[in-house]
Amino acid sequence: MISLRNTATAYGLVSRCLHWSVALLFIGQIALGWLTQVFSDQPVLQFDLYQLHKSVGFLILALALIRLAWSLFGRSPHAGAVASAVERLLARFAHRVLLLLTVAVPLAGWAIASASPLGVPSYVFDLVVVPNLPLPVSDAAEAFWSHIHAWLAYGAAGLVSIHAAAALFHAFRRGRTSLHGMLPQRR
Ligand code: HEM
Ligand code: HEM
Repeated sequence: MISLRNTATAYGLVSRCLHWSVALLFIGQIALGWLTQVFSDQPVLQFDLYQLHKSVGFLILALALIRLAWSLFGRSPHAGAVASAVERLLARFAHRVLLLLTVAVPLAGWAIASASPLGVPSYVFDLVVVPNLPLPVSDAAEAFWSHIHAWLAYGAAGLVSIHAAAALFHAFRRGRTSLHGMLPQRR
C-alpha cells in the first residue's frame, strides 16, 4: 500500500501522480510548441495550435507550482546505499533544476503572450482568460521572451532526455528500484 506522502525510502502517491502528469504534459507540450513553428505557413492551424499550447502551458504551470510546494514541504526519499555519493548529488541537482524549469518555461511563455503587441487574450481551454503579466509591450520585448522561452524549453528537453535515460539505465541495466519507486505499484 503506497502512502500519500513520501517516506524516507519511497515516493508517495501524490508525488508519483504529480510526476507523471507533469512529465507527460511537459513532453507533449515541447512537441506542441515545436509544431507551432512548423506550421508557420498555415495561419489558421497555427493560431489553434497556439491557443492549445497556451492552455496546456497554464495547466502545467498550475500543476508544477503545486508540485514545487509539495516537494518543499515534504521529504525527498534517499536513493539508498546502492547509489554513489556523486550519483545522488547529480540526481538531486537535476531534480531541482527540472522542478524549476517546469515553472520557468511556462512563465517565459506567459511573458511572450504578455509582451506581444498583437494583444491576443490567453484563454485556458476556452474557460477563463488569464490576464497579462505587467511587462513592457513591444516587438523587441516579444522577441526577447520568445528567445528565452525557446532556450529554456529546448534546454529542458535535453535535461529530461538525460534524466529519463538515467532512470531507465538504472532500472534495466543495474536492476535498481528508482523507476519502480516512481511507478503506480511498488513491487
Ligand atoms: C511547460 C510549458 C511549456 C513548454 C514546454 C513550451 C514549449 C515551447 C516550445 C518548444 C516552443 C517552440 C519554440 C521555438 O521553436 O521557437 C514554444 C513556443 C511558444 N510558446 Fe511555449 N511552452 C510552454 C508554455 C507556454 C505558455 C504557458 C505560453 C503562453 C501563455 C506559451 C507560449 C508560446 C508561444 C507564444 C510560442 C511561440 C513563440 C514564437 O512565435 O517565437 N508557451 N513553446
Ligand atoms: C519518460 C520520462 C521520465 C522518466 C522515465 C522519469 C523517471 C523518474 C524516476 C525513476 C524518478 C525517481 C528518481 C529517484 O528515485 O531518485 C524521477 C524523479 C523526478 N523526475 Fe522524472 N522521469 C521522466 C520525465 C520527467 C520529466 C519530463 C520531468 C520534468 C520536466 C521530470 C522531473 C522529475 C523530478 C523533479 C523528479 C524528482 C522527484 C519529484 O519531485 O517528483 N521527470 N523521474
